[in-house]
Amino acid sequence: MSINRIYIVGAGVISKSHVKALMKMSESKMIKLSVADPNQLALDSFLEQFPHVQSFTSMKEMLAEPAASNDIVIVATPPFTHYELSLEALQSGRHVLCEKPLAMNRDEAVRLLEAANRMNKHIGCCSTRFLDIVTNNKVKRMLEEGLLGRVYQLKFINRKHRSRTGIEYQPSTRWFLDRSKSGGGTVMDWGPYDIACLNDLLKPVRVDVLHAWMENPETFLPFGNEVIFDTEQHAGAAIVFHLKDGSKVNVTYERAACTHGDEQSIVELEGTRGSVRWDWLCLKESAEVVYTIDQDGQAVKQKFSFPVDKNINPFDKPILFFYNALHGQDSRALMDEDAVFNFSCLRAIYECAESDQPITVERRRA
Ligand SMILES: NC(=O)c1ccc[n+]([C@@H]2O[C@H](COP(=O)([O-])OP(=O)(O)OC[C@H]3O[C@@H](n4cnc5c(N)ncnc54)[C@H](O)[C@@H]3O)[C@@H](O)[C@H]2O)c1
Repeated sequence: MSINRIYIVGAGVISKSHVKALMKMSESKMIKLSVADPNQLALDSFLEQFPHVQSFTSMKEMLAEPAASNDIVIVATPPFTHYELSLEALQSGRHVLCEKPLAMNRDEAVRLLEAANRMNKHIGCCSTRFLDIVTNNKVKRMLEEGLLGRVYQLKFINRKHRSRTGIEYQPSTRWFLDRSKSGGGTVMDWGPYDIACLNDLLKPVRVDVLHAWMENPETFLPFGNEVIFDTEQHAGAAIVFHLKDGSKVNVTYERAACTHGDEQSIVELEGTRGSVRWDWLCLKESAEVVYTIDQDGQAVKQKFSFPVDKNINPFDKPILFFYNALHGQDSRALMDEDAVFNFSCLRAIYECAESDQPITVERRRA
């Protein structure tokens, strides 16, 4: 078995979770790891935890050696750098797994796909952390078995009082709050997972974002005027998912990392024969799927409880899925057309909110 080389760009918070995931893999001894970050403090903190990783102060220097066919570059830097770094890594002749969100806008994402195709390499996105989850898989099976009849509505609502990345979560990393660096707020941060889950479930061939809005509710801020904070922290959209069989599902999408309203987490799919509500994140010990059907004119609930798989945590999935896909194994990796389609659906929410016009995204390969 030959050595596989994995190059990590960025030695910040998320890079460490990729290394931990790689260290759990059965092939870990056959993987050679390198990391590049111009920030010496970040590099020192990374190397303290993972002294076996070879370090560099620039990606260019790290990727200077000739590429091997299975080399993977993980781009784990802030979003405003994703396009340039992923492009350069692809052009070096390596596969690229880029952190979520894939890019800053649709144009960049399409150009990455074109570069990957030109180089005969794959571009993947880390928006897979909440795929292949026991409850989502159960709901997918229920859909395949036709237990809901014709599905027509999905509510996907996740609202937190205060859960802003860059303030309550990871306050040391303020770039999350600056749109020129993050590309957006809670929708760029959590939306990649939301859309990955919705597209995995419904497999739309076309998505119409009919209406979208974005706000940043006012609250006390634990910093002065020197911090740029211009990202949305509450957003909503009315979206129509067009399915392969010609049917449509009306999606009510809402995400809040700051709201003065109540906290809520509702993921519910309704069909002509039944509805299902489920825990789509599975972050607790066990998770439920609640199926409601009609019995003699009455609504009757059936509950399914599942223990949550503790052997694999969401942070392990992106590199594990991508690695497995490249090695010809069954995998839920999001790559190439799929990654760009998902990202385009996400950006369509921003484009619709900004233009006040409906935005359509077509899947190029159904
Ligand atoms: N923090 C999380 O919990 C989390 C979870 C999932 C995904 N992500 C995603 O991971 C990415 C990085 O987030 P983070 O929280 O690790 O950020 P971070 O700020 O902790 O780390 C980013 C690192 O990238 C480095 N960097 C910047 N430009 C670089 C360049 N040109 N070459 C090499 N290194 C460079 C910085 O010096 C920094 O050390 C983002 O896209 C984010 O959305 C973060």
